[in-house]
Amino acid sequence: MPGGLEASLSPQAAATASAASTLSGTVDHSGTQRLSLMPLPRTTSVRQGVLRMERDFRFHVECAPNDQVLWSGVNRALQWVKNTTGLPLAQEVATAESTTPNGIFSIRVQKPATMIMGTDESSSLTVTPTSIVLNAPATIGVLRGLATFRQLVDRENGIYYLPAVSISDSPRYPWRGLMIDVARHFVHIDSIKRNIDAMEMVKLNVLHLHLSDNEGFRVESRVFPKLQLDGSEGQYYTQDAIRDLSAYAGARGILVVPEFDMPSHSISWLAGYPELSSSPGPFRPGNPPNVTIRPGMSQQEIMAETQALKIPAFDPTRETTYAFIDRFVEEMAELFPGHYFHIGADENNGAVWRANPKIVAYMKEHNLPDTHALQTYFVACVQAIVKKHGKQAVAWEEAYAAGQTQDLILQVWSPFARTDLAQTPMTDGNKLLVSRGFYLDTFLPAHVCYLGDALPRESGYGQDQAVLGGETAMWSELEDQWNMESRIWPRAGAVAERLWSPADVQNVEDMYRRLFRLGFMLDHASVNNLVDYDRHIRRFAGPLPVGPVRTLLDVLSPVKGYRRLAGLMQRPANERNSLAPLDEVADVVMVDSATKYDFRWALADYLRTRSAASEGKLRNLLMLWANNDALLQPYFAQSKELQEVSEHSRNLSDLANAALQFLNALSKDDSPEANQKAALEAALKVAKSVHGETEIAVVPEIEDLFLGKLEPEPKTYPLV
Ligand code: ACM
Repeated sequence: MPGGLEASLSPQAAATASAASTLSGTVDHSGTQRLSLMPLPRTTSVRQGVLRMERDFRFHVECAPNDQVLWSGVNRALQWVKNTTGLPLAQEVATAESTTPNGIFSIRVQKPATMIMGTDESSSLTVTPTSIVLNAPATIGVLRGLATFRQLVDRENGIYYLPAVSISDSPRYPWRGLMIDVARHFVHIDSIKRNIDAMEMVKLNVLHLHLSDNEGFRVESRVFPKLQLDGSEGQYYTQDAIRDLSAYAGARGILVVPEFDMPSHSISWLAGYPELSSSPGPFRPGNPPNVTIRPGMSQQEIMAETQALKIPAFDPTRETTYAFIDRFVEEMAELFPGHYFHIGADENNGAVWRANPKIVAYMKEHNLPDTHALQTYFVACVQAIVKKHGKQAVAWEEAYAAGQTQDLILQVWSPFARTDLAQTPMTDGNKLLVSRGFYLDTFLPAHVCYLGDALPRESGYGQDQAVLGGETAMWSELEDQWNMESRIWPRAGAVAERLWSPADVQNVEDMYRRLFRLGFMLDHASVNNLVDYDRHIRRFAGPLPVGPVRTLLDVLSPVKGYRRLAGLMQRPANERNSLAPLDEVADVVMVDSATKYDFRWALADYLRTRSAASEGKLRNLLMLWANNDALLQPYFAQSKELQEVSEHSRNLSDLANAALQFLNALSKDDSPEANQKAALEAALKVAKSVHGETEIAVVPEIEDLFLGKLEPEPKTYPLV
């Protein structure tokens, strides 16, 4: 153990720390129980015993007196202890004056540091029954260690405690991000702050804000005010709000990376400044034209039609376009203090360029053989502007051009172009960020993101130097202020773990166990991941009790992949713009159903042991579902949203009834009758259907009960 706080603790203080409990219960801690940390640390040794949290809990901090980031982190941890334990702690705030050498929690940091990419984030944390010691070479490591500390606080028999552990920790990758699209649907700044709080808890360190797209321009520009005035429907962040947000993130060791998407995904810019466009205006922010997906269309056909869509884009041939971008980047480079500036550059199909004779002539004149070459020219010009203003450019993978792209950070995302990143030519002098496999808007269960990423596969540390890390991404066609936090959290924790923890951390069941606990911790930290869901349930229930609605919705999940997005694209424009409500059951229900896993784990235990406890648990859930459809009948009459899933309600009850008969026969004599088998088989078939763009999440488990064998979950699902 580094340091040695025990040595500096007076015997009296040590005795007080372990003895002055206000509760008489005990914590059974033999050093064998499982911790619930997410992300898992690099190494953890669980020791014998616990440290009880008592009123005399107090920090002792050794650091530079002006290390503001450190003090703010310590005080957040102090407040967390107070809010979690309810203990009226003797130490109200942690300051250089209030720390005393006999503080139970001793923090030592060698040098002050703010968050810059690649900074030392390592730490060591040791908890004994009488002390906690957190050592780190630099401030950001203390923040990461404090996140571990907060997650270690646990309760048993009414007593709050920390297990005795010794943890040595450092990240696998330096860049661990969350991208939030605030363009398609605007998200209030308070919600962004709550996301930052959650990011701090799981040690994510980059908040990438997708600030402009066709549907909205979300930052105040004082140089070009028509950007927000004509491009945002009044929903944008003021410059003061951005400064406040950057400071809020900085205090939590998180960098803000702004993205302004160019040359495509840019209709909102063109609304106020149509002279930037390569096709005639006028423009209004909103969805671009889209492919009408017909039944049976192949992915290739969809892609081909997508390539032909005339989606407005910047004119890359005019000097005035670059003069505009130069002044804009200058303003934004000052507003956002971080070193990185994302220029988008994704999904530009070049169709509007090919349709403009002046642009075609320009390409000929400059020997640019195709629109990708023209886009490469555009990207190089914008990259130079970004560099001139002191920043490093980041762009989506489409910005890459073989042999030409240099010194660009490329963000790999497309699920349709699987290449081995370790061998991709993009690494040629460029750094990579991985988002492929980490998209949260595909409604895939957390374990798919957890296992299906495109990171280099070697285990342990010392990864391919080209890969800086990755980002999970929340695109917001189907997410808004009222469901965004429940769509991101706790799922993003699984990606945070993939980017922080050693590559061989792969146990899905243990990941889910920790993920659902993380969800409760985030709720406790005032993130709206559970509140979003509860609020919608109350809305669906209206004046009636929420119980039956919750029972059904707890086991529904949105259909997986891009099926919902494809459906959205077919709706009339006024039903899919930024202001159209996202208020259906599919917008609300969790991608990862906790109840599904309760059932799954009970089933695993039952199939292995036939224990009465696991059978009881299965039976209770099945009975709850079997009885629920009758209870829900009055709700359907007053909620059109619930009406859309009424067939699920009936199917779930039928399925649960058939499964109960089956389970009864199993527990009696191990051999259900042929008619019981047939009934369950038929109910399973019906229950697999999709209604209201949702599906019943427990169907695979009930099928496993039928088969008498727990199948592993699919590692992935089709996206289209
Ligand atoms: C992207 O998803 N178009 C980067």
